[in-house]
This record gives sequence, structure tokens and C-alpha cells, in this order.
Amino acid sequence: MKLDSKAMRHLTSEDWRVLTAVEMGSKNHEVVPTPLIEKIARLRGGSSGVHKSIATLAKVGLVARVKEARYDGYRLTYGGLDYLALHTHASRRDVYSVGTRIGVGKESDIVVVADHDGTQKVLKIHRLGRISFRTVKANRDYLKNRASGSWMYLSRLAAMKEFAFMKALREEGFPVPEPLAQSRHTIVMTLIDALPLRQISSVPDPASLYADLIGLILRLAKHGLIHGDFNEFNILIKEEPVSDAAGDEVKDEVSRVNLTPIVIDFPQMVSMDHPNAEMYFDRDVNCVKRFFERRFHFVSTQPGPFFDDAKKLVGKNGSKRLDAALEASGFTKKMAKDLDAALREQVAKDVPDEKDVDSSEDEDVDDDDETYISQASDAEQSENGPAQPSEDEPIAVIQPGSEQSPGHASRSSDPAAREMERLSLGNT
Ligand SMILES: Nc1ncnc2c1ncn2[C@@H]1O[C@H](COP(=O)(O)OP(=O)(O)OP(=O)(O)O)[C@@H](O)[C@H]1O
Ligand SMILES: [Mg+2]
Repeated sequence: MKLDSKAMRHLTSEDWRVLTAVEMGSKNHEVVPTPLIEKIARLRGGSSGVHKSIATLAKVGLVARVKEARYDGYRLTYGGLDYLALHTHASRRDVYSVGTRIGVGKESDIVVVADHDGTQKVLKIHRLGRISFRTVKANRDYLKNRASGSWMYLSRLAAMKEFAFMKALREEGFPVPEPLAQSRHTIVMTLIDALPLRQISSVPDPASLYADLIGLILRLAKHGLIHGDFNEFNILIKEEPVSDAAGDEVKDEVSRVNLTPIVIDFPQMVSMDHPNAEMYFDRDVNCVKRFFERRFHFVSTQPGPFFDDAKKLVGKNGSKRLDAALEASGFTKKMAKDLDAALREQVAKDVPDEKDVDSSEDEDVDDDDETYISQASDAEQSENGPAQPSEDEPIAVIQPGSEQSPGHASRSSDPAAREMERLSLGNT
């Protein structure tokens, strides 16, 4: 789903109040009855055109009308939630304008935004309903009466979890983007000007990069954590020229560029104490091994690292355990359980074919998630290209002393080169 912020500037303060009322009503109602929207909106302000606002919001797709047998009402759409989050980021001055989308993941949209100074940042919008929709359908009865399986709730949990871990990792000096703000299902973080490892066809010294990556897995373990999706898409490679002590560029062929891996994507992080920790740990290690063998024809002479050895590192030399960071941030055990279940199902299932989506179950709900899936799976992907390049299409070769950093090959860091849509807060 594209983030189109254009309609934002036409919303009045009354429209925003009504949109907020729909969101508040959603806490207890999957479909918010129209009288309840009126009541909440009026409590929060004057008692004028609530209906007019509802019509405006429905027209631009921020709320969707649902005709239930028992009552008429509206539900917040992904677009509506996006607008509320953007509105919050704008009013806190974390985001001033919205630019292009640079990534469509299975579970998120990645959009370049800028603040008031023109500094570019990344807005990650979690979209958990995108894949788990089929599962959501299978659990419809369960979901009908509970908010805990809804896309809104699960996407917010993913954002909360990712933000908390990014913050904790950053504080321990891990190479991760700096988390700047979180609202609802979104995170604002620093933009890393680098390409995912997946898009890099060769590096001067694979052994050293391999050692760095395995080192990161072990360093995470020391702090009680397993990334859980440590693959070539979630490792960005930053290229920096190396200077010697005198500040001159190093001429030696191999050491002229420094490759620094930056790790991203944390909603699936697990504790080293997780019942399946060994499986997750081995999977992360094997991901790196497999990729290095295939792409760089590099096989380490050292076996492992193995989980049992990594386990002994937990908390070593006074390393702070970060697996507790999540609970410290207010993330309850129940939230962790709900999110784990959703992410597990997501991994297990692929994007459903259209024929897999059984619309007959849906006649009582005008559910935009369905269109959302077909958009994301075909129209959007083909329009924007696949989320990731195929294995055969690495686009960057990192050579010592190459003139362009890999980041420049794919995206411009010049703010003027990117079209930005300034956000409007309306008259609130
Ligand atoms: N802070 C950032 N700076 C630069 N690029 C980023 C940043 N965060 C994400 N990206 C880009 O967006 C892509 C997707 O981001 P991320 O892995 O966080 O989302 P995701 O939903 O997990 O995607 P996927 O399902 O494909 O793994 C990354 O591979 C990377 O290219
Ligand atoms: Mg990812």
C-alpha cells in the first residue's frame, strides 16, 4: 500500500478529530458504531459536522464503511492509521515531509522522509496484516471478539518491539540505525546510505567481512539475543575510505575501503533463553555461511559457531542482558506471545494467491485488507519492481578505491533530488 500523504493537507481539524475518534473507538470495537464516533468526536471538541467529516474520511479511504447486521459503523483503514502516525510525527517535529518509498518488505513499507532541516530519515511502516490475512481469516471467530489479533494491534507491537530493541542495541554500541521516534505502527530512524549485502557481488576481503558478521551474532548472544532473521537483506554494507594516522588515504589495495555492516529489522528478535533458541541461532549462522559460499565462494575453515558455546557467552564480562529490554519498555508477556504467533505464521505462509482468498467469508465486512493483499502481491510489486533483486542481480561491486559508495548506486543522498511532499497538520 502506497503512502500517499497528499490528502492530508485537505483535512480540517474536525476531520482529524473524527479520525482520532474512529481510532479510539477501535480499541473496543472492530467496527466502530457511527453514534460512538459522534460521541467521542464531540467529547473532544465542538459538535459540528461529524457526518461531513466521516464522509470526507471515507472518500479518501482513511475509514471504511462496514455494514454489519446489527449496526452501521466504520473501521480505520491502514491509510487512516498511517495518517494518524504521520500527524503525530509531524506535530512532534520528527517528520516534515514524505518522499519516495525505497522498500516494500513482506511486513513493512520503507519510506524516505525528511525533518525540518531537510535531513533525510527512514519511516518504517509495519504492515502485519499483509501476509497473515489468511490466518486472520481462519481465526475470524476468535478475532471478532478480540482486538489482540487485529492488524492494527499486531503492527503496533512489531513497531514497539523493533523500536525497543533498536534503542537498547544502539545504547550498547551495536551498528544499527538510530531509532528516533515511534508512533503506532511506525518507526522513524536514521537513513543508512548503504546497500543490502544481497546487492553486493564482490568484496575485497570476504574473510574479514564474514568474521565481522559472525562476530556480531556472537556479540548479540553475549547480550542474550538472537537476531532471528540475520540474512543478506537485513545487513547493510557501508563503505568508508580508510585513512592512516596522518589522515592520508591508505593506498594499499585491500585495506583502502572499510566495509561496516549495519544490522536492521528487529521485530523477530528472540532471547537466548527462547525454547527454540538453538534453531534460530543456527539458522542465523547458516544464513551467513550459505550466502558467503554462494556469492563470494568463501568457506570458513572454522566450524560453528555453535549454540552451546554461544550460550556460555551470555552475560560474560558484565555484558548487559538486552533480552529483558523489551519488557522494560512496557511490552508485556502477552504482547510478546501475540506478536510471536503472528510472525511465526507469517514465516510459515507465503503471500496467498488470489484464488486462496475466500471472499465468501467476508460478506459482512467490507475489508480493505483483501484488496490490500492483491495490490501488494501483484500491482505494487510489478510497478515498483520486486522488493528485493533476484539472486542473479547483484548491482554493486565493491572495489578498493571505487569512486562511488554503494549507496550512491541506488539512491541519491541529495535531498533536492528526491521529491518530498510536505506534511500539513491542518488547523489542529
Ligand atoms: N534505516 C535504513 N536505512 C536505509 N535503508 C533501509 C533502512 N531500513 C530499511 N531499509 C531498506 O529497506 C529494506 C526493508 O527493510 P526491513 O528489512 O527493515 O523491512 P522488512 O519488512 O523486514 O522487509 P523484508 O520483509 O523484506 O525483510 C531493507 O532491506 C533496506 O534495503
Ligand atoms: Mg528485512
